[in-house]
Amino acid sequence: MNHLLSSRDISKQEILKFFKKADKFLPIVLDKKKLKIAEGKILATLFYEPSTRTRFSFETAMIRLGGAVISNADMNATSSSKKGETLYDTAKMVSTYADIIAVRHPSAGSVEDFASGSSVPVINSGDGPGDHPTQGLLDLYTIHKNFGKIDGLTIAMVGDLKNSRVLHSQCELLLNFKNLKFIFVAPKGLEMPEEITKMLLKNKFAVSEMQDLKAAAPLVDVLSQTRIQKERFGSEEEYKKYRGIYIVDSNLMKICKKNMILMHPLPRVDEIDVDVDSDSRAKYFEQVSNGVAVRMAIIAKLLDL
Ligand code: CP
Repeated sequence: MNHLLSSRDISKQEILKFFKKADKFLPIVLDKKKLKIAEGKILATLFYEPSTRTRFSFETAMIRLGGAVISNADMNATSSSKKGETLYDTAKMVSTYADIIAVRHPSAGSVEDFASGSSVPVINSGDGPGDHPTQGLLDLYTIHKNFGKIDGLTIAMVGDLKNSRVLHSQCELLLNFKNLKFIFVAPKGLEMPEEITKMLLKNKFAVSEMQDLKAAAPLVDVLSQTRIQKERFGSEEEYKKYRGIYIVDSNLMKICKKNMILMHPLPRVDEIDVDVDSDSRAKYFEQVSNGVAVRMAIIAKLLDL
């Protein structure tokens, strides 16, 4: 079965094909138009964890392709999983109704479990701190659109590097490119998992770790900011130790390169000041429309449209 479960499984050739297709779909997204290529197809979105962008953008993507959507935004509370139905059985059922399924779940690896019961393509829409391949793809698409390339860039990843599945996905996908320099900016306790750092070093990328965002900011082409992931901490006290530790504001932007870009997968809490939104280098709302185009490309590929 042709699923999209892991960033690791996506080749450079596939990434570049997604970019090309997304370029074609982006005007449809920006002009709020609709195609007919997915007419008669149904996307199911099953979310066991909260979402605004990923679920709505998948649904928007399917509707703009001309297909239809069935959706549950709160599977834990309002589906038969509350009665004990397994992911495997849920997949058996829903793949009878739908042609393609987007699933988010709070446990790493659980979307793969789900996919084992599905007879239609399943898309990992975020599995706990594990992976978020479609967000990673839209982030790389945003970098590529802005620089016309990915090779050779210096990328800072900032914040909760331990728990950010988005950054983990970005790192996996960036392995397909060349001569990258990574600067990881994280407080003690929230550093990038060692296996990811080792994987980048093995690929001959330069990796440095810092705790001072002001020292890193002037060096980078891409600043990939993240939220401290409250939902991954054992207690409120633990989370409060880190909240607000790295804030991008207009003063920080003054020391950044003129042609750098600032990205964030959103939602943000306090880690980017709203004053920064009007800075032309702030790309986090551009990422949102890019995300619909990339997800249209992903659905089109998995459904062979
Ligand atoms: N970026 C992202 O995954 O956002 P949501 O959690 O709102 O889907």
